[in-house]
Amino acid sequence: MRRKLIAGNWKMNCLKQEAIALSGQISNFYARLQNPSFDMFIAPPFTMLDTVVKIVGASGVVVAAQDCSVYDFGAHTGDISPSMIKDLGCKGVIIGHSERRINHNEISEDVHTKAVAALQTGLKVIICVGETLRERTIGKTLEVVSDQIKASVPLDAETGQIVIAYEPVWAIGTGRTPTPEEVQKVHAFIRDVLGGLFGQATASAIQILYGGSVKPDNASLLLSLPDVDGALIGGASLKAEEFSAIAQTLK
Ligand code: PGA
Repeated sequence: MRRKLIAGNWKMNCLKQEAIALSGQISNFYARLQNPSFDMFIAPPFTMLDTVVKIVGASGVVVAAQDCSVYDFGAHTGDISPSMIKDLGCKGVIIGHSERRINHNEISEDVHTKAVAALQTGLKVIICVGETLRERTIGKTLEVVSDQIKASVPLDAETGQIVIAYEPVWAIGTGRTPTPEEVQKVHAFIRDVLGGLFGQATASAIQILYGGSVKPDNASLLLSLPDVDGALIGGASLKAEEFSAIAQTLK
């Protein structure tokens, strides 16, 4: 059985004191659970990674970055390399979030290169895919998601190190979500695409998260879908009560 994963993407939020308070509350919540049935990741901004890694300590919460460079060292002003992220004690990185694809013109080939670099360093990668509203309206959701996966996911990766997050762009931060039937359909399709790349047995072990306006009141339905293995949460991950309420729907 696939283990569930609850991941919080803080995006460009939290000054020092807020990050300290939030990571403290989340790690206390997670550390108090007896044998949690799910893993918990949080992805603060780069500036807070070092502090947050120290705060979560041995609670079991995993700290991830929100992006990484394709390079490891050298003359790349402003870039942060996978080795630097790992050096702080982080164990994962989100790659190809739609806000990077849209605001920084990242294409799937860039996502692929970053994923290769991160995997070589030993980081777990959460690779994001998802259609825009326009692509959905013209019936291209499955085609877009399939193309993004095929071009973004490194084929020689150890599959335990890869997580896919399906995040419809139009659902991010909008309070709108696809219906549970639509989410399940896309997740099952993603698993089929992964099956074509890695074989069915391997594909059935890869965690596929749903992201886009996951809140305490819709989490239990979304997280109970057969091919939904967890959630990538933006807005609701900035409030410890909401983030833990979402996790608690897993029991
Ligand atoms: P949201 O963001 O939960 O605020 O919709 C999700 C994401 O962008 O990962």
